[in-house]
Amino acid sequence: MASYDVIVIGAGPGGYVAAIRCAQLGLKTACVEGRETLGGTCLNVGCIPSKALLHASHQLHEAEHNFAKMGLKGKSPSVDWKQMLSYKDDVIGQNTKGIEFLFKKNKIDWLKGWGSIPEAGKVKVGDDVHEAKNIIIASGSEASPVPGADVTVDEKVVVTSTGALELGKVPKKMIVIGAGVIGLEMGSVYARLGAEVTVIEFLDAITPGMDGEVQKQFKKLLEKQGMKFVMGAAVSKVDATKTKAKVTYKLRKDDSEETLDADVVLCATGRRPFTGGLGLEALGVEMSERGQIKTDNQWRTNVPGIFAIGDAIDGPMLAHKAEDEGMAAAEVIAGKHGHVNYDVIPGVIYTAPEVASVGKTEQELKEAGVNYKVGKFSFMGNGRAKAVFQGDGFVKLLADKDTDRILGCHIIGPAAGDLIHEVCVAMEFGASAEDLALTCHAHPTFSEAVREAALACGDGPIHM
Ligand code: NAI
Repeated sequence: MASYDVIVIGAGPGGYVAAIRCAQLGLKTACVEGRETLGGTCLNVGCIPSKALLHASHQLHEAEHNFAKMGLKGKSPSVDWKQMLSYKDDVIGQNTKGIEFLFKKNKIDWLKGWGSIPEAGKVKVGDDVHEAKNIIIASGSEASPVPGADVTVDEKVVVTSTGALELGKVPKKMIVIGAGVIGLEMGSVYARLGAEVTVIEFLDAITPGMDGEVQKQFKKLLEKQGMKFVMGAAVSKVDATKTKAKVTYKLRKDDSEETLDADVVLCATGRRPFTGGLGLEALGVEMSERGQIKTDNQWRTNVPGIFAIGDAIDGPMLAHKAEDEGMAAAEVIAGKHGHVNYDVIPGVIYTAPEVASVGKTEQELKEAGVNYKVGKFSFMGNGRAKAVFQGDGFVKLLADKDTDRILGCHIIGPAAGDLIHEVCVAMEFGASAEDLALTCHAHPTFSEAVREAALACGDGPIHM
C-alpha cells in the first residue's frame, strides 16, 4: 500500500493531464488505468485513431479528385486496408507511449488495473488499497445504446465508434445511426474509401446545436461527397447476422416504417458517463438524472476529497474540455485558483472540410434577444483556399451590434479547426470584431478569411 497526495482514476485526456499538472505542482501523484495503454478512449479508440483514418482517406480523395487537375498523372492509389489499420495503430502507439514517457518524467505512478473507491481517502486497485488525500475521478464515457431501439452491438457488423476503427474490411454498404460528430466523421471516412454510406438521423438537421447555416452547407458538401441522408427518422430495430444487417426506422412525418440493408451499421447516437464499478453509490456521491457526477464550480463532489472532471460530469463531452478541467482541478487541490471558461470552448468536426465553432450560435442570440450583427466571408474569396480546391465554405462571425464584442464564430472550410483558435483568444480577451479586423494577417493564408469576416462586421470585406 502506498500513500499519495492525489490519485487520479482514469488516464484519458482529463485524467493524464490532471496527473501531470498535480505532479508539476509538487503533489505526490498516481494514476489508475485498467487499459493496456494510457490515453483513454481519445488516444486508443477515439480522437487520435479516427484522425489517422480521416487523414488517409482524405489523401485518397485528393488523389482521385484533384491530383490530375494539378498535373499529377498516373495510377491513382488503391486501399490496402490492413496497412491503413497498421498505420493507425502506429499512430496510437506513438501517442500512448508519449504519455508513458510523460508519467515517468513527472514521477507519476501508473497503478495498473481498474480502480474503485471503498471509502473517501482510499483507492482500491486489484487487491491493493492505496491512500490518497485527494481523488480525481476522470473515468470518461462509453457509447450509449440507441435510444428506444432494439439493437445489439457485436462490434463486427453492428458497431460503436470502437468497432468502426477495427472493421475487417471496408464495407460495401454502411448505415450510420445518428448524424452527430462520430457518425459524420466515421461515415465520411468510409464514404471516401468507397462505401455507400447512408446516415439515418432522428432530427431534421445534422449536428444538433450547431449554427443553422453551417448545418445546411455541411450537409450539402457531404452529399456532394456521396453520403446519403434519411432525415426525421427514428431507428427502431437492427436485425443482424454474422455478415449483414437490416435497419428498421420510422419516418416522423407520417409514421411509415422502412428498412435498409447494410454490411455494417455504426451506432453513433451519443455517449454516457462511465462510472460503473467505482463504488460511487455506496460512497453517497451525488449523481444527476443523466448519470453524471455532480460537482461544484471547483470540480468537488459532495464527498470531501473527491473531485470529478471530464465526460463523467456535466458539459460537452470533449477531450479539451476534460483537459482544462484536469488542470484546473489540480490547481484547486494545490491551493491555487483553477478556472475554466465554459463560454469559450471550441468544437471541431474533423471531416473535409472541417467544421469549427465557438461561443453562441445565431439561433441562440436570437432566442436570448441579443442585438447582434453577422460578418460572413466565403472561402471562394480566399486565394489560398481556391489554390487548393477548398473554396467551399465560409467564416461567420457574430458580434454585439452595440459594443462590437465578438460573441461567436462558426467556420466550415479548410483548417477550420485551427482557424477557430484566433477567435477563441480574441474572445478570452473580450475583443471586438474591429480588433480582429485591424490585426495584420499574413497573405496568402486561410486565416485571412477570419479577418475578412471581422471586416464584414464593420465597413465590409475587401475580397467580396
Ligand atoms: P451526438 O450527440 O453528437 O449525435 C447523436 C445523433 O444521433 C443526434 O443527432 C441524435 O438526434 C441522433 N439520434 C439519436 N437517437 C436516434 C435514433 N433512434 N435514430 C436516429 N438518430 C438518432 O453523438 P455522437 O456523434 O455519438 O458523439 C458522442 C459524443 O462524443 C459527443 O458529445 C461528441 O461531442 C463527442 N465526440 C467529439 C468529437 C470531436 O470533437 N471531434 C469526435 C467524436 C466524438
